[in-house]
Amino acid sequence: MPAKKQFAAKLREDQNINDPFVVLHKQISPSRAGRNYLRVTLGDKSGKIEARVWEGADELAARFNLGDLVYVTGVVTSYQGVLQLKATYIERIEESELATINWGDFLPAAQRPVGEMWAELTALLDTVEDGDLKRLIALFTDDEEFASRFKTAPAAKGMHHAYIGGLLEHTLSAVSLADRIAPLYNLNRDILVTGAFLHDIGKLDELSSKAGFDYTTEGRLVGHIVQGVVMLRQKTAGLENFPQELLLHLEHMIVSHHGELEWGAPKQPMTLEALALHSIDNMDAKMAAVDQAQREKAGPLADWTGFIRQFDRSFYTGFGSQELSEQPQTSAGTNKSKKKNEEESGGESGQGMLF
Ligand SMILES: [Fe+2]
Ligand SMILES: [Fe+2]
Repeated sequence: MPAKKQFAAKLREDQNINDPFVVLHKQISPSRAGRNYLRVTLGDKSGKIEARVWEGADELAARFNLGDLVYVTGVVTSYQGVLQLKATYIERIEESELATINWGDFLPAAQRPVGEMWAELTALLDTVEDGDLKRLIALFTDDEEFASRFKTAPAAKGMHHAYIGGLLEHTLSAVSLADRIAPLYNLNRDILVTGAFLHDIGKLDELSSKAGFDYTTEGRLVGHIVQGVVMLRQKTAGLENFPQELLLHLEHMIVSHHGELEWGAPKQPMTLEALALHSIDNMDAKMAAVDQAQREKAGPLADWTGFIRQFDRSFYTGFGSQELSEQPQTSAGTNKSKKKNEEESGGESGQGMLF
């Protein structure tokens, strides 16, 4: 298959389209004239664009599914100031052709190189002083399979709130915040930093890294919180004389990091470090959600983000203090188009789904 050359974020009005995209959403709707039309959201690593098919909608819709890679023919138009694709043909790309696909063109990726973020994360983890926690951390960071999966995993479901490297990016932010917050509240820094590192490791098994980042069966049936505790126990089983008290505290931090029972936490935080971790996770989730919405904003209301489902509102960005991409990189800053795991608690709206 020829290389992809037209990317969603770079499309211009009147441009003819002849390129593959991933199907992120598909819906048949009746038009005012009473005929069905097809609404499709198409995506690639750069973003997404809404497409409409007016002719033969029912027939075309039957030819592809959510998550499929499709070849799209059409023209870019503008509707109420927002670019939209008027598609004349959408055809599923056959399995036999998928072998030659460069998936990197279709899956959104973190803005910072994963190697750089991994180096920053491991440097922070190296500052943990407790010998037992050091041994535990090394079991994860020296495990090549864990490291390579951790570097590429998304942190959330849904193409537009998730991307390759998203889990690493979120974890790096959490660990950086833990590093800064621990001395302010006189917390056990080593346990907070280690807990921040491990809190979402269960996501390695919860989400698939394939197009669309859907939940795995295991993710649906068990979930990343319990999976994280299982992974931690498996690792510590290989460590001689690992203190039970440390293991218990880390387990408590993992199971309580969602904060409230109705937000998917089996237990509420009951130590200061667990409470700090929950607050860190919550803060990074919220900041990242707005940050991402700000990056994606399009259309005439340039000073507002689009509607952010998790918040039930839009955010005003017109005060000029949020030109995040102009600021220097900081390890815990919001200057990264972050993922957020806003859908991990099941996809219902409301604050609970943010972390
Ligand atoms: Fe989580
Ligand atoms: Fe998290």
